[in-house]
Amino acid sequence: MSAAQWATAFAPASVGNVAIGFDILGFAVDALGDRVTVSRSARPGVTITAVSGIAGELPTDPAQNTAGRALQAMHAALAPPFGFEMRIEKGIPLGSGLGGSAASAVGAVVAANALLEQPIEKIELLKFAMQGEAVASGSLHVDNISPSLFGGLVLTVGIDHPRVKRIPVPPGVCAVLIHPHMFLATRQARAILKRDVPLADFVWQTANLAGFISGCYTDDLDMIRASFEDVVIEPQRQALIPGFAAVRAAALAAGALGCSISGAGPTLFAWALETQAQAVLAAMRAPLVAGGAGVDEWIVDLHRDGARVVASG
Ligand code: HSE
Repeated sequence: MSAAQWATAFAPASVGNVAIGFDILGFAVDALGDRVTVSRSARPGVTITAVSGIAGELPTDPAQNTAGRALQAMHAALAPPFGFEMRIEKGIPLGSGLGGSAASAVGAVVAANALLEQPIEKIELLKFAMQGEAVASGSLHVDNISPSLFGGLVLTVGIDHPRVKRIPVPPGVCAVLIHPHMFLATRQARAILKRDVPLADFVWQTANLAGFISGCYTDDLDMIRASFEDVVIEPQRQALIPGFAAVRAAALAAGALGCSISGAGPTLFAWALETQAQAVLAAMRAPLVAGGAGVDEWIVDLHRDGARVVASG
C-alpha cells in the first residue's frame, strides 16, 4: 500500500507537571485537542496555508509557528521528495496551560508521518515535535509533547535522547479540569521561577515524585494522595491565578486525591475517583465563578491513547 497524499491527525491537549514532575511528567486530555492536516506539496520545505479554530493570531511563517518548526525539523532530517503543506485547526485555547503548542506540533508530525513511504516510530517523532515546543515557551521541555503523542500519564527522561515511559493510572481514577478564562503566557510563568531550590524542598519534592509514581504502579491511592503536592513550583506560581488556593482547598475537601496547576496555568486540575468527580468539579467551580471568572470544565479519562491519524487519502 502506498503512503497517503494527505492526512489529518488529532493530537490531544495535556496537563504538564502533574504537580510533582516539573517538565518531565504529563497526562493527555482527550476531551479536546488540535487537528492538523498535512498534504504532499510540489513546493519544497514547509508551508502553512491556514490556521483556524480558537486560535487568535498565530503566525503562519513556519519558523515562527510551533507546528511549522516541528515539521521543518522533520523535513530537514528525513528529506522526503516532496514538501509539507499544512492546515492547523486549533481546539485548545492559547495560554490556557493545556499544552496547545505541543498538540499542534504533535499533530503535525503524526500527520506528516503518514505521508512517508517508510513511517518512523513515535519516539523519533517526539524529537521533531520538541523543536516546535521550544518556539512557544523558549525551552525544550517534553511534559506536554510526550502525553499528547503517546496518551495517558507519561514520564520522559532526557532531552537529547528522551526515554518515554507510560505510567499506569489506577482504575477508577480520572482527572477534573477547570479553565478560568484568562491568558497566561508560559514564558511569563517560567520567567518568575527562582533558579535555586532549597535542599529541604528538593528532598520533599523528590519523595513526592517517587511516591506518586510508585503509588500509580501499585494502585496505592493513599500513597498518591500523600505525594500529590508540589512544594517547589506551585508556591511560586499560584499568585498568577486568582482563586487558586480556594479551588485547591475545595477540591481536597470534596475528596480529590490532589489538585494543582495544569502546566504553567491558568487551568487547574485534580485527580479524583470517578464516583466523586462531579462533586470535585462543582467544588472547584464555585470559588472561580464567585470571583467572576468564566470557566470551561472537563472530566477526563486517563487511560486513552495519544495522537492518531483520523482521516487520510
Ligand atoms: N512544564 C512546563 C511549565 C509546562 O510548567 O512551565 C508548560 O509548557
